[in-house]
Amino acid sequence: MLKFKGSLKISGDKSVSHRALILSAMGTGKAKITNLLESEDVMRTLNILKELGIKIVKDDDSWIVYGNGTGGFLEPKKSLNCGNSGTTARLMIGAVSSNPINCTFIGDESLSRRSMSRVTKHLEKIGATVHLTRKDYLPLIINGSEKLLPLMHNIQKPSAQIKSALIIAALNIHGKTKIIESIATRDHTERLLKFLNIKIKIKKIKNKATQIELNGPYEFKSKSIDIAGDPSSAAFFIVGALILPESRVTLKNIMLNPSRIAFIKILKKMGGKIKVKKTKQICGEDVGNITAEYSKLKGITIPANQSAYLIDEYPVISVAASQAKGRTIMKGLDELRYKESDRIKSIVLNLKKIGIDVHEVNNNLHILGKKIKVNKDVKIKSFGDHRIAMSFSILNTLHYNKLKIDDKKCINISYPDFTKHLNFLLQNK
Ligand code: S3P
Repeated sequence: MLKFKGSLKISGDKSVSHRALILSAMGTGKAKITNLLESEDVMRTLNILKELGIKIVKDDDSWIVYGNGTGGFLEPKKSLNCGNSGTTARLMIGAVSSNPINCTFIGDESLSRRSMSRVTKHLEKIGATVHLTRKDYLPLIINGSEKLLPLMHNIQKPSAQIKSALIIAALNIHGKTKIIESIATRDHTERLLKFLNIKIKIKKIKNKATQIELNGPYEFKSKSIDIAGDPSSAAFFIVGALILPESRVTLKNIMLNPSRIAFIKILKKMGGKIKVKKTKQICGEDVGNITAEYSKLKGITIPANQSAYLIDEYPVISVAASQAKGRTIMKGLDELRYKESDRIKSIVLNLKKIGIDVHEVNNNLHILGKKIKVNKDVKIKSFGDHRIAMSFSILNTLHYNKLKIDDKKCINISYPDFTKHLNFLLQNK
């Protein structure tokens, strides 16, 4: 009988890895980054920074970034290829916008279907010239300027990528930039700025909105940055332990940022036996160990106001829901349509193939759990989406490898060690 057992240190957090590289490039002096996630997405950011004249070298297990200061990017000699990475594209478009250089951004097929105007419309308003060659999509050409205007931005869509792009741009804008987000999203950029002693003001304003105020341009000294484990990657093995009988795993050194671990509350509400123990703080983020064991799960309703905090975990929560007693309803998943794949479609199509009663109603997902074992091979379509491929790899452990995932290479986008870690934690006794 297969079960998940033992303990493991999960790879570094993807969101923080991108930000650690970008902010180190914009500081002055040498920054040593440890536990950087060496995934395809993060390497896209790293290579683009190199194209922009930043020296970055590997030194044993860490990376050394030689910062050029804010406004220190040089005009690249070739197009900046973001591959599959939305975070690279959005954050780097923001980063170059306040530098007097011209850049062309390109991406793979999936990224070239994802909106860029959600960021560029704000940058155009303050003086950047942007040419989106296909309406809303990559390739795009941006002519940045040192003279962008310090204005107020109202962000209506819940997106940490939009917010972070504007914060990073504002680091080299003269005067006060205000960024208002009506729905709070992950706050790693803000935390890292504080860790780097960059003075920004954050306050709650009316209707639960948050206002971030910057007064640039900034000059700051780089610092060593240690990156904690990625909670979104840990989520796969947490759900694995919850659904596979007799399992118990401990995932160590996980970042416990409240905007990232809402899935734990949700899984606990479903009856999941999960314990979280804070052990330390690194670089402005709480860090700790998470233990999860096999549990009898029940269906619940997840309200729409949670969606910004669960955005990357819905695929694996859907896997948990497929094994729960009763119906799980996840509301307000609109943004899930615009990820690496249309994740509502990817989840529905694949769970249906396994025989689960699942349907979408106006961007809400309804899943009726059912303990079934497939007895012949079922083809799972990942749509090149890493989180879909990993979520169904977890469900596959219940089906004795009968789920045949068409593309597992895409897992390298966010978690190259996933298969190694899966095999390490899986016991067959
Ligand atoms: C990310 C933000 C999220 C998330 C993505 C990483 C980030 O996207 O889905 O995997 O690092 O800022 P949005 O907040 O833009 O939806």
